[in-house]
Amino acid sequence: MMERCVEIMVRGKALLLGRKTFFCLTLSVTIISFGTFFHQTIGTNIRKPDETSKYNVDRRGQNCVFLTSVESSSDLLYVDCEIGVKHAPFIWQKDVQIWFNITYHISISHKNHSLGTVKLDSENTQSLYMNNRKGYQVLAGILERHDLKRMRRWNGLSDLGSYRGRKATFNDVLVFSNGWIIQKTRHFAVRNGGCLSQNGLLVHNVTVARYKRVVSIAVFWGEGSWHFPMEALVGLAYITETEIWSSFIHVTQKNNLVLQWLKLVGINEKRVIHGTILADYLIVPEIGKCGSPSLNHIQWLYKKINISVPTKRNTVLLIKRNKSRVMPHFAKIQSIVENFANVGNLNFLLHDDNDLPSLPVQLQRFANASIVIGPHGAGMVNLIASSKGTCVIEFAPMEANVCYMRLSYLLGLTYIAIPLYINNTVTENKITDAFNHCQRKTTHV
Ligand SMILES: *[C@@H]1O[C@H](CO)[C@@H](O)[C@H](O)[C@H]1NC(C)=O
Ligand SMILES: *[C@@H]1O[C@H](CO)[C@@H](O)[C@H](O)[C@H]1NC(C)=O
Ligand SMILES: *[C@@H]1O[C@H](CO)[C@@H](O)[C@H](O)[C@H]1NC(C)=O
Ligand SMILES: *[C@@H]1O[C@H](CO)[C@@H](O)[C@H](O)[C@H]1NC(C)=O
Ligand SMILES: *[C@@H]1O[C@H](CO)[C@@H](O)[C@H](O)[C@H]1NC(C)=O
Ligand SMILES: *[C@@H]1O[C@H](CO)[C@@H](O)[C@H](O)[C@H]1NC(C)=O
Ligand SMILES: *[C@@H]1O[C@H](CO)[C@@H](O)[C@H](O)[C@H]1NC(C)=O
Repeated sequence: MMERCVEIMVRGKALLLGRKTFFCLTLSVTIISFGTFFHQTIGTNIRKPDETSKYNVDRRGQNCVFLTSVESSSDLLYVDCEIGVKHAPFIWQKDVQIWFNITYHISISHKNHSLGTVKLDSENTQSLYMNNRKGYQVLAGILERHDLKRMRRWNGLSDLGSYRGRKATFNDVLVFSNGWIIQKTRHFAVRNGGCLSQNGLLVHNVTVARYKRVVSIAVFWGEGSWHFPMEALVGLAYITETEIWSSFIHVTQKNNLVLQWLKLVGINEKRVIHGTILADYLIVPEIGKCGSPSLNHIQWLYKKINISVPTKRNTVLLIKRNKSRVMPHFAKIQSIVENFANVGNLNFLLHDDNDLPSLPVQLQRFANASIVIGPHGAGMVNLIASSKGTCVIEFAPMEANVCYMRLSYLLGLTYIAIPLYINNTVTENKITDAFNHCQRKTTHV
């Protein structure tokens, strides 16, 4: 699976309407307690594609949404449309003309949350300074100065954090697999996303199924091994159980990975849909920003997957990659790691991405490990199951990407980066130094 975890897109400041949150919380708690009772009733309220309305639009709306020849047939609609990005602002952008409703979820204070530690090799810090993303250059300075206060803020942990736990509701909209949402008759459009698509939407004669109630977490890149769980899926943190039971869940792509994650959070694949759809009523939660889900998002997923952490954790897990970032001297690295495990009386486990068990077993492996070591890549998403105190040694490419650093930090893990050079090698004594750092920080229990 392609991995395109690019960090930090600066977005417009959030709307400052967060004061109604207590009300929202009270309300959703009430609904949850009734939810169990009404499950059956609400469940039958779901409607598979039916009821097509006959209408024909051929009009360049004042918002330049160009929607033509929507025809009806026995049970499907055909849609043609063409819209430029500038007519489809980001869904939470401040100045979006609100033609849909937004509610706010209570945001939990993180003042007492115990965070992890981060240690980058100086070469990795240099690569952050050299990165063309301003956010990374700022991060390099923060790390070099060990500025813990700014480190919290950089990771979205301030009272002015831009996450608000928002949830938008729409009536009668077309929803696309890349996060575009278009009001069918009024021709307004917005784009949802962690990473936002930068191309216009061009859809010719697409078959559209109609659903009564839908929760959509479909976004640009939302099918990927990082982007699905860490950006799209975590959005469900703001959806009540009742809303989930009574709706179809719309995703970018109904692939095996996506279905496995959804199953872990209790969603049956029968309720999962993809493609372009028409929704009578649509709910869209605030998802994780590109590369940077919020602490709320991460904590929700960690709790939801509910992987048990053994009382005794003494395994060193080494990630081996077969498809990309294949390390030419991997055998040598493996022997260093195995030797370290032997000397420390720890178990050794090879997590080979050419021979992976089911997702729950992968997660259990990470929950069992006291040390996780290996090259940057999809496998590290499993860190979501690791508990506080686990040591993570990432072979981090010089083309910097801090997704897993950030994830580890927010989960309370001990994170160390050592450079993975362009020739896919690492320096052996940097591995040894990293292990020594782990030893000082980690207590194997
Ligand atoms: C947070 O930590 C402070 C200092 O340790 C403590 O006084 C306070 O009660 C804690 N708050 C919560 C909500 O746990
Ligand atoms: C938006 O809020 C208005 C006023 O409360 C309500 O009438 C309407 O049904 C809501 N629309 C959606 C899509 O939730
Ligand atoms: C749209 O597609 C349907 C079925 O795929 C086809 O029957 C119909 O002729 C197409 N309409 C146009 C305008 O191309
Ligand atoms: C989490 O899993 C444990 C067993 O591993 C179970 O006892 C517990 O009820 C689960 N919690 C939730 C919220 O499902
Ligand atoms: C990748 O896996 C294939 C199939 O098991 C194996 O033949 C190949 O040697 C592996 N490549 C590496 C670099 O481990
Ligand atoms: C995780 O650890 C437990 C307890 O030590 C063990 O029974 C289980 O087999 C381990 N699971 C995996 C996937 O390694
Ligand atoms: C790989 O690249 C690094 C950094 O440029 C260099 O120091 C090292 O010698 C190279 N290793 C191999 C085996 O080419």
